[in-house]
Amino acid sequence: GMPNHVKIVEVGARDGLQNEKKTVPTSVKVELIQKLVSCGLPVVEVTGFVSPKWVPQLSDAKDVMEAVKDLEGARLPVLTPNMKGFEAAVAAGAKEVAVFASASESFSKSNINCSIEESLVRYRAVTSAAKKLAIPIRGYVSCAIGCPVEGAMSPSKVAYVAKELHDMGCFEISLGDTIGIATPGTVVPMLEAVMAVVPVEKLAVHFHDTYGQSLSNILVSLQMGISTVDSSVAGLGGCPYAKGATGNVATEDVVYMLNGLGIKTNVDLQKLLVAGEFISKHLGRPSGSKAAIALSGA
Ligand code: HMG
Ligand code: MG
Repeated sequence: GMPNHVKIVEVGARDGLQNEKKTVPTSVKVELIQKLVSCGLPVVEVTGFVSPKWVPQLSDAKDVMEAVKDLEGARLPVLTPNMKGFEAAVAAGAKEVAVFASASESFSKSNINCSIEESLVRYRAVTSAAKKLAIPIRGYVSCAIGCPVEGAMSPSKVAYVAKELHDMGCFEISLGDTIGIATPGTVVPMLEAVMAVVPVEKLAVHFHDTYGQSLSNILVSLQMGISTVDSSVAGLGGCPYAKGATGNVATEDVVYMLNGLGIKTNVDLQKLLVAGEFISKHLGRPSGSKAAIALSGA
């Protein structure tokens, strides 16, 4: 049945901003993260310790992490694609990290420049280093529904990578519809396959809203027992290595739906609107959240 409480993982400051062409000043990122934490969000992903050549927008990862590391009230994970990123993240004060694999060979190559198996070898090194420091690690599986190059993904490929990440010690596995093509029709068989090998309470769903299907996809995921949902304030986002992929589902829209279902999130929607307005104003475009636009009466 449906959960009583949903944990929202806010990915706007990372997934949301990583695809922005114009450099967002570090101070704006820091203020956004402060505002997001003040909303009562339990997890606010901060940045990625990735190659600045691959994702120039996140080249200030160290400065952002150092500025927010002592914020209280939320966990503040960062992406780490390899040991170099992991070591830099820890040195900057990160207390939680995330590795990101893909169900698709082609996407693995274009996003992290290695095969799926090579990435799993790297991530075993990161997870064992993290265990020694008692740092929790989240694992992402990209292309959980489809790949920009390979098309539809078979659920068994997603389940394979999810199980590998779980077996190496990831406390949570986030299933990413990187290009936002999922519908409830493809989400259900994918989740059935993954739930057969990883306990449902360890799973999260991560929808991009390219086709406007995210809320339906989240609802069907909740009905299957998922209780962790990734989203991005103002619907920011898109992956630089997934052409045409738009933003994540908007956090405001998710909170509005969960409020309507009587499912607790601990998130203050009014404060969330302020955070969304802040970043939308900075980026010079309207919010990608329909709920935010409706509620602000614009
Ligand atoms: P590479 O070029 O193969 O790396 O990149 P390399 O190990 O061969 O090293 C080359 C150079 O990069 C060296 O520097 C390294 O020091 C440096 P040089 O000697 O040339 O001066 N380097 C680094 N610098 C900073 N931080 C590091 C790092 N590692 C190496 N961590 C690599 C491989 C994985 C690093 C690169 O491909 C990369 O950074 N990829 C990240 C791409 C990315 O961030 N994508 C977006 C996030 S994933 C996503 O959005 C999906 C998700 O939201 C879920 C979903 O929606 O599906 C999570
Ligand atoms: Mg994403």
